[in-house]
Amino acid sequence: MKSSSRAQSVSLLDKSLLKTFPKVELHRHLEGMFSLKHLFELSRKNNLDTPEAFADFKKEVQFPKDSGPDFLLFLSKFKRYWYRSFDDIDYLVYHSVLNLKEEGLIYLELRFAPEHFAEYNDFDRIEVVKTVINAADRAAKEINLPINYLLTYNRMFQTAEQMIEQHKKIDKLEIPSIVGIDLAGDEVNYAPELYIPFFDYIKGLNKYKIDIHAGEITGPDQVWSAIEKLHADRIGHGISAIKDTKLLEYLKKNDIYLCQCITSNFQTGSWVDSPSHPLNDLYKMGYPVCINSDDPSVQDADLTDDYLKCVEYFDFSAEDFYKLNINAINASFISENEKRILISKFDKEYKVFLEKLK
Ligand code: HPA
Ligand code: ZN
Repeated sequence: MKSSSRAQSVSLLDKSLLKTFPKVELHRHLEGMFSLKHLFELSRKNNLDTPEAFADFKKEVQFPKDSGPDFLLFLSKFKRYWYRSFDDIDYLVYHSVLNLKEEGLIYLELRFAPEHFAEYNDFDRIEVVKTVINAADRAAKEINLPINYLLTYNRMFQTAEQMIEQHKKIDKLEIPSIVGIDLAGDEVNYAPELYIPFFDYIKGLNKYKIDIHAGEITGPDQVWSAIEKLHADRIGHGISAIKDTKLLEYLKKNDIYLCQCITSNFQTGSWVDSPSHPLNDLYKMGYPVCINSDDPSVQDADLTDDYLKCVEYFDFSAEDFYKLNINAINASFISENEKRILISKFDKEYKVFLEKLK
């Protein structure tokens, strides 16, 4: 441990303090951050065949504590049968976003899959998008948190042609807070090449940035494919990039950030030895990375828990977190002017945080 940072690391290990560090987050799934209390209440109201005791219910919807890392088990936790009405969606989204008050966020890019909310009832996808964003915006306003959205398309549930068809309708809504398009799901069994027509179409619209889950479970070749074939502006995870120096140099030269998620990577088996997680080396070598939670309620670990891991395993200081959040601002999908405004807000809040460390 660096001796100068010893005193600071001790206080940074205080979770209630670290929660108040001003954070910018770019990689978080709405479906993975539900308020479990409200999800439970919804499942009771809709008489779903789920455990009656909250403790048992939690076991069903969270990644099991006693399980070894397992990517497909992790993905299986994103059930889609909760909703029976648009009011159900509104209720769950509104309360889940309100919970973000506790996380110290000053800006969030939140992603959601319209298909997740629509599929069980074959709800109109346009109405789903409107309902989700309306509920999230209402809650975000109450807690004074600026949010922009990414729409997630899942490899397992739609073909490229179906994605195009769906997105053509959603695009007509012209919602300016939808800043990006995300590709998620099982990258092992669904190759990037399958989605070329969809991302060619998105790129052609010239309205959205592109964020691809790649190199989470697969090798660096899939990160290359995400960039060269799917036009990725940003990468979800990209853990395997650590094995390919040419790729790392390319990412740095082109400002393509890897959004890292330590707890998620443990549970999915992407990187099980968290103390040697590549985030540490990548950051220290100056490659473009930032810290994210991915799916806090599925993981039973919030964003601050990942910050705590950074202190515990990598001896990160407040200054390191400052730089990593500046990285996140640079990697965000907002305009250069909005970035400047966000940096000055962040600087102010960072100074307030430093006062607490004295
Ligand atoms: N990988 C792919 N898809 C996902 C993930 C992930 O880690 N989390 C939620 N959807
Ligand atoms: Zn993700």
